[in-house]
Amino acid sequence: MSNELLRVENLEVIYKTTQETVQAVNKISFTLNKGETLGLVGETGAGKTTTALAIMQLLPKTGKILSGSMTFDERNLLKLSDEEMRLQIRGERIAMIFQDPMTALNPVMTVGEQISEAIRYHSENVKEEEIQKRVNEVLEMVGIQASRKYEYPHQFSGGMKQRVVIAIALSCEPDLLIADEPTTALDVTIQAQVLAMMGELRDRLGTAMILITHDLGVVAQICDKVAVMYAGKLIEKGTLEDIYVSNDHHPYTVGLFGALPNLIEETDRLSPIAGLMPDPSRLPVGCNFQDRCLHCMDICKVKKPDVFVNKTHMIECYLFSGKESWRSAHGEQN
Ligand SMILES: Nc1ncnc2c1ncn2[C@@H]1O[C@H](COP(=O)(O)OP(=O)(O)OP(=O)(O)O)[C@@H](O)[C@H]1O
Ligand code: SF4
Ligand SMILES: [Mg+2]
Repeated sequence: MSNELLRVENLEVIYKTTQETVQAVNKISFTLNKGETLGLVGETGAGKTTTALAIMQLLPKTGKILSGSMTFDERNLLKLSDEEMRLQIRGERIAMIFQDPMTALNPVMTVGEQISEAIRYHSENVKEEEIQKRVNEVLEMVGIQASRKYEYPHQFSGGMKQRVVIAIALSCEPDLLIADEPTTALDVTIQAQVLAMMGELRDRLGTAMILITHDLGVVAQICDKVAVMYAGKLIEKGTLEDIYVSNDHHPYTVGLFGALPNLIEETDRLSPIAGLMPDPSRLPVGCNFQDRCLHCMDICKVKKPDVFVNKTHMIECYLFSGKESWRSAHGEQN
């Protein structure tokens, strides 16, 4: 039996409006094994949420998957009907915590009703008694007393509300949880508590996770793999060691982490890099990072960089051409 849960290959997503075409996700590939956590990082507008929405097939009307494939537990997600996606995959096998979780709860329904609704949706012929037992269990799992299920969202603090959102996402025991900046709206101490709790639940339930975040400290704490996104591309990816211990990095990753080589000690927040990410509706010829790169060469301005790999580590940058231990992966799937 394969250990692979999700395989995304050459995924390309655009948003098409009357004025422009935004190349939000540009041929990205990655895999995720069962129980594994992938940290997806990158500055605002890089395409992180779009990637998540494409997997969930919840892109807005203007969004379109142009090419690529997404295989989840050996099923091609792009071949499923809306109904199959809604009844068999979304919520049940893949759950998502959205970027703005505070609006995810319905203010006029009790917390217990909202969790039981999610459970009921995916389980036919389950007795009410069993559903209520499950509601109690998931609330307690996220550290909330079951007796509080009769309360409304406004009776909970921000951190508690976020726990409820996580309880709803986990109520059907999904194989994959996509969490899009699940703690940015919370204060720092509560952020740490909620993340620690998510890490524990993941270990206990064996849920695989894609964690979208700006916080590299969080990534170091709970991820197995890291993918760095820039202007719709995954410009570097690898294991936690590849990203935090190795000295080889894409110039953008170096900028993100601050000074090398002490990636973790120097900074744990994304540090600002001079310049702006190119507008995804007007991407340059050549490397997307050329205008901000201190190492930019002539070739970078005329041709998109190849992919270079060193075992589990992948970087899309000409600096790795001919470098010891690195080889070109031209034409290979990564
Ligand atoms: N509905 C939309 N219509 C048109 N363009 C969009 C739409 N949603 C996102 N975009 C554009 O697609 C690109 C990728 O956006 P996305 O929201 O995926 O980035 P992100 O990495 O999640 O950013 P953030 O960190 O700010 O959440 C951006 O240029 C964004 O402006
Ligand atoms: S390909 Fe060139 S411009 Fe792009 S990051 Fe590498 S060195 Fe810089
Ligand atoms: Mg986003």
